[in-house]
Amino acid sequence: MRKKLVAGNWKMNMTAAEAAATVESLVESIDYRDSVDMVVCPSYLCIPKTVELLHDSHIKVGAQDVFWMPKGAFTGKVSAPMLKAAGCAYCIVGHSETRGRFGKLEIADTAVSHFSETDHTVNLKIAALLEQGIVPILCVGESQVERENNMTDAVITTQLEKALDGFDPDELDDLVVAYEPVWAIGTGKTCETAEAERVCAMIRIVIGEIIGTSHAKGIRVLYGGSVKASNAHELFSQPNIDGGLVGGASLDPKEFAAIVGAA
Ligand code: 13P
Repeated sequence: MRKKLVAGNWKMNMTAAEAAATVESLVESIDYRDSVDMVVCPSYLCIPKTVELLHDSHIKVGAQDVFWMPKGAFTGKVSAPMLKAAGCAYCIVGHSETRGRFGKLEIADTAVSHFSETDHTVNLKIAALLEQGIVPILCVGESQVERENNMTDAVITTQLEKALDGFDPDELDDLVVAYEPVWAIGTGKTCETAEAERVCAMIRIVIGEIIGTSHAKGIRVLYGGSVKASNAHELFSQPNIDGGLVGGASLDPKEFAAIVGAA
């Protein structure tokens, strides 16, 4: 039986003071259940304070990205040992926004190449995180154009095969995968529940082909993309959806608490 997981991706929102106020409100709002793991992923700058405030709580802290080298001349980057030392238990990897694939584009498209994540860098990042005992939350998903061209399953299969290449199956036992259709991120468009379940089941089959079906049975597959309190229960009731990776709705402690309640 896989334990449900609800993770909040705060993206580039909140100063340290705002994050602290949100965390305090979250602790009051969340009705803790042993059956659900909870994670919040603030920006790097908010991680230390968030870890301190959640020290006695069941809510874990994650980062939104990592650089794969442990240290060195990599201006502006943050390594897995740094995240570990700061108290991170999880880290999102390969989010569509770091791959330059946006559901709602709020920057000039001439600047999109700044977000240059590839399946290869995702693979390197997963290795760096596993070495530190940090659980990777690997994001996969298709764009609107890929969906319209019936490429959804092929795109996700390639993302999984490249991201998980070269690992021993035992190393990946705690891995979390999030199915995040790019077109549903920040757009208010949620994937139909039946289709989200179909893709999450397909993801589990592909993982089974990569690391073996017995390992794949234990891997948690989340759905992400316009999850809110009103649709969480239906999504999380599906047999292959083990929780959610929540963006916008995780910024509101009461809404996030209600999503955790749905799980
Ligand atoms: P929204 O919930 O805002 O659509 O974002 C989803 C997401 O990208 C989580 O990582």
